[in-house]
Amino acid sequence: MLAAISIKNVSKSFSTEGQPILAFGPADLEVNEGDFVTLLGPSGCGKSTLLLMIAGLIPCSSGQIIMNQDEVLSPRHDIGMMFQDSTLVPWRSVLGNINLQLELRNLNPNDFQDKISELIESVSLKGYEHLRPHELSGGMQQRAALCQALIHEPKTLLLDEPLGKLDAMTRENIRKDLQNLWMNEKPTVLMVTHSIEEAVQMSSKVCVITPRPGLIDKIIEIKLPWPRDLEVKRSQEFADYMAEIQEVFQGYGVI
Ligand SMILES: Nc1ncnc2c1ncn2[C@@H]1O[C@H](COP(=O)(O)OP(=O)(O)O)[C@@H](O)[C@H]1O
Ligand SMILES: [Mg+2]
Repeated sequence: MLAAISIKNVSKSFSTEGQPILAFGPADLEVNEGDFVTLLGPSGCGKSTLLLMIAGLIPCSSGQIIMNQDEVLSPRHDIGMMFQDSTLVPWRSVLGNINLQLELRNLNPNDFQDKISELIESVSLKGYEHLRPHELSGGMQQRAALCQALIHEPKTLLLDEPLGKLDAMTRENIRKDLQNLWMNEKPTVLMVTHSIEEAVQMSSKVCVITPRPGLIDKIIEIKLPWPRDLEVKRSQEFADYMAEIQEVFQGYGVI
């Protein structure tokens, strides 16, 4: 199995009032091609920091990150990213925001018409293409952001609590869409979450991170069948995985 992302002895310190404070690591992690890995850990353990380093948006303080055989030294254009707060620009429609991702990469939106229609359909935004972000619900905004993350057909998706601010029902619906997209196209996904349930439902592997400075403590393979529908979520095996992870966090004293 090829490693899509290799994290080797990576750490990050921030300087606060002139003092370096270790926020994450040092840690090693290998994410295989086509894996859906969640980074699960308490607030402040460095999950977002790790994702920003992998995206090349901030430098590592030590170590090395290799993505698709290439060391990450500057911002990557070959990934799709999604954050908790939507990054849609307010003056453009859903379609205009999706096109923006192509324009930023010097790609011609005309060459992507079929892909755009297919994506919009797959996240149930058909009929809403011409609305601007303020005319959309939070869930619809995140669906549009998901289209933005996927339009240039990246092999790697970095998702930072993308469903964190949504209500429970919308969150469940978008999880389902995201899971279907992953099952069909098999991108490599690294998703940050602080929800144990979301981690067990979505991942092939859960990477458990300790409280700050975050260290990768355990990698738990979730061997449940796909799709992880309501039936799977109600199974004893699902409950057992949740309990196993809850015990790890109880051990840290964070729950
Ligand atoms: N730009 C920054 N400057 C100083 N400290 C930071 C900065 N970004 C993050 N931190 C600190 O690093 C730690 C990890 O932050 P973060 O990666 O956002 O955690 P998480 O996403 O797991 O909640 C936190 O203690 C946070 O305050
Ligand atoms: Mg975060």
